[in-house]
Amino acid sequence: MNALDTQTRIAVVGAGAMGSGIAQVAAQAGHEVFLFDQSAEAVDKGRAGIAKQLQRRVDKGKLDQATADAVVARVLPANQLSKLATAGLVIEAIVENLEIKQKVFAELEDICGEQVILATNTSSLSVTALGSALKRPERLVGMHFFNPAPVMALVEVILGLATDKNLAEQIHATAAAWGKKPVFASSTPGFIVNRVARPFYAESLRLMQEGAGDPATLDALLREAGNFRMGPFELTDLIGQDVNYAVTSSVFAAYYGDFRFQPSLIQKSLVDAGRLGRKSGQGFYAYDEKAERPQASTTASYSSDEKQLVVEGNPGVLSGLVARAAEAGLEIVERDGCGLLRFGRATLALTDGRMATERSVTQGLKDLVLVDLAFDYRQASRLAIAVGEHTDPAATEDALALLQQLGIQVTQISDLPGLVVMRTLAMLANEGADAVLQGVASPADVDLAMQAGLNYPQGPLAWSDRLGDGVVHQVLTHLQASYCEDRYRPSLLLRRNAFAHQGFFQEAAS
Ligand code: NAI
Repeated sequence: MNALDTQTRIAVVGAGAMGSGIAQVAAQAGHEVFLFDQSAEAVDKGRAGIAKQLQRRVDKGKLDQATADAVVARVLPANQLSKLATAGLVIEAIVENLEIKQKVFAELEDICGEQVILATNTSSLSVTALGSALKRPERLVGMHFFNPAPVMALVEVILGLATDKNLAEQIHATAAAWGKKPVFASSTPGFIVNRVARPFYAESLRLMQEGAGDPATLDALLREAGNFRMGPFELTDLIGQDVNYAVTSSVFAAYYGDFRFQPSLIQKSLVDAGRLGRKSGQGFYAYDEKAERPQASTTASYSSDEKQLVVEGNPGVLSGLVARAAEAGLEIVERDGCGLLRFGRATLALTDGRMATERSVTQGLKDLVLVDLAFDYRQASRLAIAVGEHTDPAATEDALALLQQLGIQVTQISDLPGLVVMRTLAMLANEGADAVLQGVASPADVDLAMQAGLNYPQGPLAWSDRLGDGVVHQVLTHLQASYCEDRYRPSLLLRRNAFAHQGFFQEAAS
């Protein structure tokens, strides 16, 4: 299906943060854009904002003046809804209220021709419910941009129950022609991003609640081992604790209280205290001028005379760590076994979702040190470890010495199942897998959405594939057994893939 040609007039209803950004995107792509708002002042402000933003790019030498002027000239103020009659596509970005949006769409249906495409930028309302009040619900589609719209690449194209598939494809192609990365999703709470991202915040809040570490430590682990651009605490401070808490609460309610999405009391207390993040000067961190960023907790330094790293069997993703050890001059000795590393007195293993104490008892592993997941063990600058109740401190010191001599800062957390990065990734992949299982989106679109919408280092499903056959499923099974909570129930799709020895995109490595 072809994109709308640039002769098609676009109308944007609502000239706030999102509407003016969307108008800018469409105008930059060459369309004439009507910008309407119930407040004429908002339209003026929106157009002035677009001009200012483009001028900034001209000043930096990224855009020539004539192009910027032409884009601004293509954004036309509209003082009445009836002025939008000639638009081929109307994108609504007004207040997030079902009845008000339905009323505006009903008016637009009467004003515009039968062939007009109506799109909503809603982030939390059902496109199906919005369409139910229309004469032609098949002409309504979700076009969910991310803030700021001119910068963020992702557009979720949302199909309500009645949405015409060809029309959705045309909107997908149009978003691509506008330089965006569109994905399809069916109209379900949170669509892709606002659903699949919930565990990124939830697991760290839970870990903090259970004493794994403070925000600075958990943020550092997710950045430096997980390669996420920001940790969950600094990110929610930026988003606003109230906004993030409201999204979680609305997704939790929309899924009828599914414990996967249960909001956090820690975050609630921040909201109750008015500690909303950067905008209020205090969230998990303080933002006044004098405030110093707390440091991540890092263990003391140790050294060892041990020169050999023994690798027993296939270490899976830990092979990156083995390669790093070889590059650092350690002798690698390979033996049969089940993927353990031995260094001095320490037995190191990748976390499988069980506590170190449980695993050392049930597997008969003495002096066990569990290692967290890293996005890339060859480059990680920080890693979490956890040890069992019976692990000899001398063995822990050997494990620390190994990792530290590879240039890795180590954070020892208490013995919690799944550690930090593994647990986060497993739960992100779990939610992505359920979205695929339930037909909300394809695996490729889930991953693209998480990368283009939130800058994740890799899509959670491709990352899960990279860990190998059944690894994420096993972590979740163990988390569920550890907590006896429905929150950690593994997606049926992960379970099926584990038994079929396959991944989302390829045969998983065994
Ligand atoms: P905003 O508050 O900045 O702007 C909303 C604008 O709509 C205001 O200028 C208001 O005067 C106007 N408006 C309200 N009712 C109207 C009506 N009946 N007719 C015409 N104009 C009306 O809001 P924002 O942040 O731009 O959000 C707009 C929509 O985009 C909402 O549905 C929101 O959920 C969605 N969204 C917001 C994102 C964000 O990060 N802010 C991200 C993605 C979607």
